[in-house]
Amino acid sequence: MTSPSKKRPQGGITIVVGAQWGDEGKGKWIDWIAGGADVVARYQGGNNAGHTLYVKGQKVVLHQIPSGIFHEGRKCVLGAGVVINPGELVREMEKVAAFAKVTPDNLWLSARAHVITPWHVFMDGRREAVREASSGSAIGTTKRGIGPTYSEKTARSGLRLGDFVNPVARQSWVASMASTVEGFAAHLESDFNSHVSEWEAFAKVAERLAPFVCDAEARVRQCAAGGKKILMEGAQGTLLDLDHGTFPFVTSSSTIAAGACASLGLPPRDVTGIYGIAKAYVTRVGAGPFPTELMDETGNALRERGQEFGATTGRPRRCGWFDAVAMRYAQDVNGFDGVILNKFDILSGMDELKIAVAYEHPELGRIEQFPWNAEVLAACKPVYRTFKGWHGELPKKGGIEALPKEARDYIKAIEELSGIKVVGAGTGPGRDEALLGSDLERLVTVDA
Ligand code: GDP
Ligand code: IMO
Ligand code: MG
Repeated sequence: MTSPSKKRPQGGITIVVGAQWGDEGKGKWIDWIAGGADVVARYQGGNNAGHTLYVKGQKVVLHQIPSGIFHEGRKCVLGAGVVINPGELVREMEKVAAFAKVTPDNLWLSARAHVITPWHVFMDGRREAVREASSGSAIGTTKRGIGPTYSEKTARSGLRLGDFVNPVARQSWVASMASTVEGFAAHLESDFNSHVSEWEAFAKVAERLAPFVCDAEARVRQCAAGGKKILMEGAQGTLLDLDHGTFPFVTSSSTIAAGACASLGLPPRDVTGIYGIAKAYVTRVGAGPFPTELMDETGNALRERGQEFGATTGRPRRCGWFDAVAMRYAQDVNGFDGVILNKFDILSGMDELKIAVAYEHPELGRIEQFPWNAEVLAACKPVYRTFKGWHGELPKKGGIEALPKEARDYIKAIEELSGIKVVGAGTGPGRDEALLGSDLERLVTVDA
């Protein structure tokens, strides 16, 4: 990778979004791009996310703390649109402390963010069990309480972090839930009778987190107004978006670029760059339609070589060929200035590669537009175009032009078929194993 230039561009808001079904390698790139940012903010999701990066050669998976935490002096923020599991967050802070200082000066937690309580985690498991029993089709959630917490928020009865750290407000929320929500009182009672009370532990971490809780959005706006560079870290991916993903097989938040400004309360007109992260193939964890999924040896080979196992739950990821129809859709929804494609090294050694250029539906015929209906998508068969593969070890540094000709042809085809501009390529999991297109240079510009 070329070393970042020393001149810092003034201010701006850059949003980085997963362009597929999550796990595209966002953590690695945000860690890299954060070198050129002042503020790094997560804008949605919670500890369903698992963002992998390498610090001093050691693998670290972040679930809630933004992937900029390992750059000294950066302010890391969890915005209003995030849901926070307090106990898990404290555990993560302790893990990160081995590599970086985490203090109220560099970790700002929005008082507006909603809290994942033991009740929401319990309900996530229960709803999944009910779905499985009634229709045989659970969503395959991470069981981290994400859906129930967002449901509570939209029902306007959730617990916000600012109230969680205030004992009076917290107890009043618990009392109100016990008197209004069926099953809550019984859940509390059984918890207090159990050997290890989750609720007692839950209340204990409030004190620990209190100094970190603030009007994070106001601070970020102040940073933006002062010419600081803001980097927004997406979690999950475009196709898991609550409104625009493959509903109901989605997560419960707005994962797309537009969600970033809503979460942090920032004017959309101030956004200066939107970048997508994708894999050079596709993976998905959990249930839901996946037209290019490979249920064969090639799929298994991708999983093994790519170590495609969930960073949060450890579940095997479903693997398949690159889907240009879905990528075109992600481009339309997000308006990417550029897309970074990861894991070129994993495709190395395959004689042939395929890209879905359209779908074929048994009744609707050829489909070129990503359907809104998950059932329609599930019935679609991909129409493939075949490409020549590449072999051997790939360069870890330099520009995209350093890739073998077949890989460059593959990128060119993806650009043409998906209407995207590829501005970076991953050739390994490490921070430095990345090839930059010239457009990406300005993102990683750091102070002298
Ligand atoms: P995220 O959720 O989008 O941050 O992605 P995950 O961390 O869940 O999954 C991406 C996985 O791919 C992680 O294990 C990364 O270390 C790894 N990774 C990212 N980019 C590359 C790459 O270019 N090559 C290889 N071999 N691994 C990569
Ligand atoms: P990162 O940020 C991949 C999937 C789950 C399930 C669906 C709903 O690491 O890319 P949820 O627990 O959110 O209610 O589950 O969404 N899912 C992810 N898949 N990467 C993630 O995050 C994911 N977060 C949730 O597997 O299918
Ligand atoms: Mg992940």
